[in-house]
This record gives sequence, structure tokens and C-alpha cells, in this order.
Amino acid sequence: MAKDRVVLAYSGGLDTSVCIKWLMENKDLDVICMVGDVGQERQDLEYVRQKALDVGAIESLAIDMREEYVNEYLTKALAANCMYENKYPMVSCLSRPIIAKHLVDIAHEYKAKYIAHGCTGKGNDQVRFEVSIRALDPDIEVLAPVREWDLLTRNQEMDWAREHGVPVPTTKASPYSIDDNLWGRAIECGELEDPWTEPPEDIYTMTNSSYEAPAEGDVVVISFEKGIPCALNGKKMTFHEIILAMNEIAGRNGFGRIDMIENRLVGLKSRECYEVPGALAIIQAHKALEDLCLERDLLHFKPNIEQQWATLVYDGLWFSPLKEALDGFCESTQKLLTGDVRLRFYKGSCVTVGRRSPYSLYDYGLATYDKDDTFNRDSAKGFIDLHGLPTKTWASARKRAGQDGQI
Ligand code: ARG
Repeated sequence: MAKDRVVLAYSGGLDTSVCIKWLMENKDLDVICMVGDVGQERQDLEYVRQKALDVGAIESLAIDMREEYVNEYLTKALAANCMYENKYPMVSCLSRPIIAKHLVDIAHEYKAKYIAHGCTGKGNDQVRFEVSIRALDPDIEVLAPVREWDLLTRNQEMDWAREHGVPVPTTKASPYSIDDNLWGRAIECGELEDPWTEPPEDIYTMTNSSYEAPAEGDVVVISFEKGIPCALNGKKMTFHEIILAMNEIAGRNGFGRIDMIENRLVGLKSRECYEVPGALAIIQAHKALEDLCLERDLLHFKPNIEQQWATLVYDGLWFSPLKEALDGFCESTQKLLTGDVRLRFYKGSCVTVGRRSPYSLYDYGLATYDKDDTFNRDSAKGFIDLHGLPTKTWASARKRAGQDGQI
């Protein structure tokens, strides 16, 4: 009888390589591996794909998800100025749903009963994978070998791997756990687990330290059309190309490092380091354009939606009805978000130094103190009288009660 099949989210690392053998031996399954290209650095996907076959997978697929990632995921994320806990631009939260979607597609194509991932039981990524997979197909069963096996230490895992013919890395393993994609890098573990220890310079690969950043800095103009980046310094480019270019420019200038304590969904606080040069700069420019083009009430209300969006997506609910509705809100705010923003980078800083738009709500006549002033000052007095009327009434009543001057 043919064996049941499982589609495994494969990275090429030790954990997911051990997963292949473990699923074959402990669950008696045929394993189909999928590695997704979401723009992570240092990856020869053909090598990774082949490695899965060498370990014993019956099929191995490398899928280039970059365009879809930018167009379907990062575009929505930018409309929502994605930022978890006001600090983290959600690097890993955004790649998991697209990977989950492809896992489900492949499971359907290959008639697999199961999907497996290599996440540990302590992180957010396991939640994101499993909730997304269930949202896309509630009948698929999810397996989480790393959570199930009792290979607690890395040495035990390497011994198991050797005994079962899984290739073991010969170089000393990095003490860090790293996850990266086009939108940036997340670095955890090792000495970073002491929140008092300053992150060592060698965790960073996308950004210079601000000490090493070139003294001349850089000035960049990002243009947006309907909220989506469309040109850099006047040259038409895709959003994807702009992310790559901004990672390089902002990174070179030492901008985009984050060292934070983060509240995970699974209940614990963790110390997280990120480098997100392009993401942070692009979000900053996007917000600067919104400052110019969104009407005051909308501009003040939108961050509530953004925060809700960020928490939902962080919590693994990318594919959920509320998230879809919030996307609808954000999208409607981007219709006239067309224009240019100028950013100045200098030794670790990024300052917005210019913005313009055909749909700007900035009215020179209203704002100026010069002769072209069109603001009707006569309206100001009556406006203040009415605006302050409740407070004035309250103060009078307190005064009558003898509580003059006290709040
Ligand atoms: N704490 C971040 C998040 O939950 C980063 C997770 C990084 N994932 C990893 N497997 N190293 O989004």
C-alpha cells in the first residue's frame, strides 16, 4: 500500500534535515520537501533542494516566492505601516503566511494528508504556520517533529542524525538563530539571551555600525504611487527593487538596527535583535507621505487599525476575516497616496527632509505667516470661544463652589 504523504517546510539546516528522516522512520510517511525563496541571503536553493532528496525525500521543490511576497504581502504590510509593539517591522510574521500558502497548495497537488514544519514549541512561528494552514485547509493535519522529539540538545540531535545517515554540519554551528527575508533579519539566542549584554557586531550582516558608516551620508528620494514605492531618485523601479536598494543604502549608513524586548504570543518575553534597514526607511517615508496627504481625523484614527493589524498578523492570523477587513480599510486610505519623500541618511540616522504630492493637503496660503496668508483669523476667536466653552463653564462652576484654581 502506498504510504501517506507529508509536505515539509524545509530550510536545509540540521533541524529540518533531521525532520525528513524522523517523519520517514517514526511516522512511516513519504516526505515532499518545499523550500521557499522569500529573499533570504546566503542560499543556494538548488543545493538545498538536492540535499532534501539526498536525505530521503521523495520529491523536493524550490519555489521562488519573492514577487508574490512583495506584491501580496509586503504591499499590504506597508499600507498598514506594519510595526509590532511600535518597534518591530514584522519580518518573520510576514513570511510565514506565504510559505504556509505554498505548503497547502503543494499538499493539494501531491494529495498529501499532512504538512510538517521544523519550529520549536516556544516561538511564534509554529503558531503562524499552523493557524495559517488550518485557515487555508482545515482538513490538513499538521505535524511538528521538533516539538515532538526528545532530542533536547544539539549534541543529541547530531548523534541521532549521524546514526540515521543525515549529514551533520562540520563547521561549528552559529550560536544564533537567524530568520531572514527581503524585509530584514531576525537574530536570537546565544549571548543575546542576556538582555543586558550589548549585541556583538558580528550578528549584523546588512548594516554597518554607525561608526563605520561613510561620513558623507546619502540623500534618497522615494516616490510612491497609491501608497506603493515606485521610483528611487527619479528612476522607475519595482517595489521589490526598491527594497533591495534601500536595504543597501540604509544599511551602508548604519540605519535599521533594533534591539528590543518583545512579548511573544506564547506568553514569554524575549530579547530580539533585528536589522531592517530598507523596511524601516520605507515605512518612515510612507508615513511621512501620509502625514501630508491624509486628512486629520483619518490620520489620527489609522494607527488604531495599524496596531490591531500588527497584533493579528504577529499572532498568526494573516488569513482571518478581521485581517481581511482591516486590509480593506488600509487600502482605501492609499488611493491618493502618491508623491515623493526625501530621506537623509547619516551615520545611523534617517531623517525625513522633504515631501511633496499632487494630493497634498498642505495649503501654503493657510500655513504661511507671510503676505500670501489666506487663513481667516476672524474665525479664530469664535472658534476658540465655542471650543473652550465646556471647560469655561466647568471652571466657572468650580469657582462658584469655592474651588478656585484647584483641579
Ligand atoms: N520574534 C520574531 C517573531 O516572532 C522573530 C522570529 C524569528 N524566527 C526564528 N525562527 N528565528 O516574529
